[in-house]
Amino acid sequence: MRKHLVAPSVLAADFARLGEDIELVNNSEADWFHLDVMDGRFVQNITFGMFIVEAIHKLARKPLDVHLMIVEPERYIGDFRKAGAHVITVHYEACPHLHRTIHQIKDTGALAGVALNPHTPVHLLEDIIEDVDLVCLMSVNPGKGGQKFIYQSLPKTRKLRELIDTRNSKALIEIDGGVGLHNAEALLQAGADVLVAGSSVFAAEDPVATIQALKAFEAVFDF
Ligand code: DX5
Ligand code: ZN
Repeated sequence: MRKHLVAPSVLAADFARLGEDIELVNNSEADWFHLDVMDGRFVQNITFGMFIVEAIHKLARKPLDVHLMIVEPERYIGDFRKAGAHVITVHYEACPHLHRTIHQIKDTGALAGVALNPHTPVHLLEDIIEDVDLVCLMSVNPGKGGQKFIYQSLPKTRKLRELIDTRNSKALIEIDGGVGLHNAEALLQAGADVLVAGSSVFAAEDPVATIQALKAFEAVFDF
């Protein structure tokens, strides 16, 4: 059976005590750190860049999953890889030459991901699905944490699962935005492989127990 991954989003951590929150994730059952890079152009907010990623890399004992919500991401791929990124995800909507950008990421040795905004249909990936290591479905509009899950992301996950399976692609399906204990099981059932969770983890009374609960869900398939 496929075992899913859980990737807490550092965006929802306490930046004044970042080291402590990194250590909390280190000591949990989480699989990856999800790091949201925003540039004030592709999305309204500005978060952090490669220097903070590098600082987190020094403390993290799990792979860094770097989600680039920036325009012209191809200019910075080498920098984020050097800063310690294990997965680098770019937005479909920010990449007119996506095939080239995906291979640029792979050439650095990182895993290459592509993210889709909520309105971007899955079928647009038909001709690239065999090249990518991960597809990140945005289940909120990118730009900030703590938003409500967009329900349409559930049938969209199923559609993407079907595309990946019929094409024999190895791409992981990552769901990002509004994910928590209330919808994790349904998402896994729909075919998700990686659950990103920001506020549902860091705003919880017991973040480590919440991560454990997110890991404990299982997708049960009817054959
Ligand atoms: C949104 C970011 C997400 C965000 C998720 O633009 O890409 O990774 O941190 O936060 P929650 O889980 O609070 O919706
Ligand atoms: Zn993200």
